[in-house]
Amino acid sequence: MPRPALPLKFLAAALLLLAARPATAQSRHEYLLDTNWKFSKGDVPGAANPAFKDAKWQTVRVPHDWAIAGPFNGNNDLQEVKIEQNNEAKATQKSGRTGGLPFIGTGWYRRRLAVPKFGAGQRAVLLFDGAMSNAHVFVNGKEVGFWPYGYNSFSFDITSFLNPGGGDVLAVRLQNQPEASRWYPGAGLYRNVHLIVTDDVHIPVWGTYLTTPTITAEFAKVKLRTTVATPTGDFQPLRLDTEIRDAAGQVVATTSTPLAATDGLEFEQNLVVPQPKLWAPETPVLYTASSKLYAGDALKDTYTTRFGIRSFKFEAGKGFSLNGQPRKFKGVCNHHDLGPLGAAINTAALRRQLTLLKDMGCDAIRTSHNMPAPELVSLCDEMGFMLMVESFDEWKTPKVKNGYSQYFDAWSEKDLVNMVHRDRNHPSVIMWSIGNEVPDQSAPGGGKIAKRLQDIVHREDPTRPVTAGMDRIDAAISNNFASVLDIAGFNYKPNQYEKANEKLPQGFILGTETASTVSSRGVYKFPAVLAKQKMYPDNQSSSYDLEACVWSQTPDEEFVKQDDLNFVIGEFVWTGFDYLGEPTPYDEKWPSHSSYFGIIDLATMPKDRYYLYRARWNTTQATLHLLPHWTWPGREGQVTPVYCYTNYPSAELFVNGQSQGRQTKGPSDQPQTRYRLMWKDVKYAPGALKVVAYDAQGKAVAEETVQTAGKPDHIRLVADRPALAADGQDLAYVTARVEDAQGNLCPNATNELKFAVSGAGTFRAVGNGDATNLEPFQKPQMKAFSGQVMAIVQASNKAGALRLKATGAGLKSGEIELKTSAAAQ
Ligand code: GAL
Repeated sequence: MPRPALPLKFLAAALLLLAARPATAQSRHEYLLDTNWKFSKGDVPGAANPAFKDAKWQTVRVPHDWAIAGPFNGNNDLQEVKIEQNNEAKATQKSGRTGGLPFIGTGWYRRRLAVPKFGAGQRAVLLFDGAMSNAHVFVNGKEVGFWPYGYNSFSFDITSFLNPGGGDVLAVRLQNQPEASRWYPGAGLYRNVHLIVTDDVHIPVWGTYLTTPTITAEFAKVKLRTTVATPTGDFQPLRLDTEIRDAAGQVVATTSTPLAATDGLEFEQNLVVPQPKLWAPETPVLYTASSKLYAGDALKDTYTTRFGIRSFKFEAGKGFSLNGQPRKFKGVCNHHDLGPLGAAINTAALRRQLTLLKDMGCDAIRTSHNMPAPELVSLCDEMGFMLMVESFDEWKTPKVKNGYSQYFDAWSEKDLVNMVHRDRNHPSVIMWSIGNEVPDQSAPGGGKIAKRLQDIVHREDPTRPVTAGMDRIDAAISNNFASVLDIAGFNYKPNQYEKANEKLPQGFILGTETASTVSSRGVYKFPAVLAKQKMYPDNQSSSYDLEACVWSQTPDEEFVKQDDLNFVIGEFVWTGFDYLGEPTPYDEKWPSHSSYFGIIDLATMPKDRYYLYRARWNTTQATLHLLPHWTWPGREGQVTPVYCYTNYPSAELFVNGQSQGRQTKGPSDQPQTRYRLMWKDVKYAPGALKVVAYDAQGKAVAEETVQTAGKPDHIRLVADRPALAADGQDLAYVTARVEDAQGNLCPNATNELKFAVSGAGTFRAVGNGDATNLEPFQKPQMKAFSGQVMAIVQASNKAGALRLKATGAGLKSGEIELKTSAAAQ
């Protein structure tokens, strides 16, 4: 890229400045462009022009999702479509498919770009973690670049676009098309934007590639490849000094490497870490490699690469092992939205998700069906989750009219390269996925595309395998699509795993997408029977966890295959969390606008299914959970089945002290009997429902009681964390429970609750997990759903006490105080 013509006077001054810098000067500066953005919805002629007057535009903070504030409307992105993956025979009108929120259209963002002391010998780069979508980026009125795919990270060198005298203006135009997605994509600069200023001689964005080719108990070899950009071409001899620190900050390895002219502009360094501590979900130990780049004696750049030391294998007949230990993936698929916060990224919200998943015993996440936020990948490194990073939901053959297929030919390689370059140093990333249920599986030439994409990924990262989520199993097997892949991943095919494994060369199979069981938190339908595509007049699904789609299963049906077939290497359940859009089975029945698939609801409240998975996956803690609730006025004497999700082998149930018998888990012709304790004939009587659990020796070891609730009396507030960081971003999730005078949850309460925050924080959003609720997430009030509402509060920048008060007509109010401090995490 040509350098800006600098006036001689300025150049001389800048050179002087440079020369005056001490050799240890910090030459890399990274700025988060989060505040002082101006935003306008709609296309605005001339908005890229630096002189454009944006004073009347809304002032926003980025990350920002322009559509999450609603209002909801069934006509937003109404889609007339036949969903082939769902075996639909004809096209019908789908109202809430993408969430019913106003994300379609154009939006502009503008901001001053202060590049402090920018001058000769420096470079400036803009890095977007993701921009939804079709981003055109302008600096000082000139377009610096375009990136269509809204989920990918991308960067542009803007050095030649900057004014020598400063006063630069950044403008970004984004545009979302209708019928471009199968779920809520979000809208706007929904991920972070960074400005990176370096010396001319520098390590570019994602400029290192670190691998650990040999790992033994005594040592690990670390191979670090560092790219160096020298855009002006003239430089003194280059040297790279790298040191590796362990998690405690102790230096454990160092090296210094001169770059010989013949080496090209890439340094390869090999270091040895003695007695490495291995990364695993249970022990997420991290190291850092810090590199200093010198030209002659001048420090030109510093660059830190965080990494983990772990090995894994996928072997025919043996399956998957991590650090030599065989294991199966206990995974969930998640979409990227954060429920009431929309698509706007927030690290505390992601940490809340991962904390819940960790407690459930989940150890893996599939970032369905696109590249995740970088914050998620870093948190997975830190908290211990294995990632399948996915790229596309579409290749050449469309699923939706204006989806990624329009960009596929021109952009798929660029998109894959950025995905891999950004995330290939993360220990959490275990595999890459090149696609989800792409219709090309059964199209002529589909296998060739799969091979091309897989080869690109292997070229950029030979250390990790490639998979894809396949649904057209027969076609994919017969046309060799499935055999091309390093890992054959199937969606919703537990009953065909054996057949597929016999026909495929890999010797193992992954459940890339499983279950798709539907349920609404706290809602139970009678009779409790297995059903497909079951709909009710209230647009809810039963929480007995017996309802699925025509193409999908209950959790237990997958468990049987996972447990009985050694070559099956784990599952990724659809989904960990409910998400905005895809309200199956109510796709045509507004006001449903968010999914029912989640193990955890849209407001991050666990459904019963959470405990079914926890009982299976969390092997270090006891789970003993009863369902349904026990407040059924009018059902007296009627059959009201009771289930217990537990990792104890058997238990006895009592209604008001009367035994309902003892149940023991075990193989049977009904998968449910193997994984749940079920009392199918219990007759409802108000009072106490109690379960006593027995261990394998028959000893009573734990009990749990659910009481019939009386009249709603008060609101109790329960925060997920007692203390927050006073950083203006940290969040607490506070559950507001409508309780009776004795403190029992009133499971049928629908009271409208109002929230007020005072002190060191603000109200951020509210949700109740009801997929049909059209109340906005951004107003501090919402009606209880199954007795509960989730209020999300945000710390301010000032340490102190954040107070939340919840009120509701006829209820005693609830209050809670949370500490915010500079140190809290
Ligand atoms: C799958 C698809 C997912 C989701 C799911 C719902 O076929 O890959 O994106 O649509 O069905 O069951």
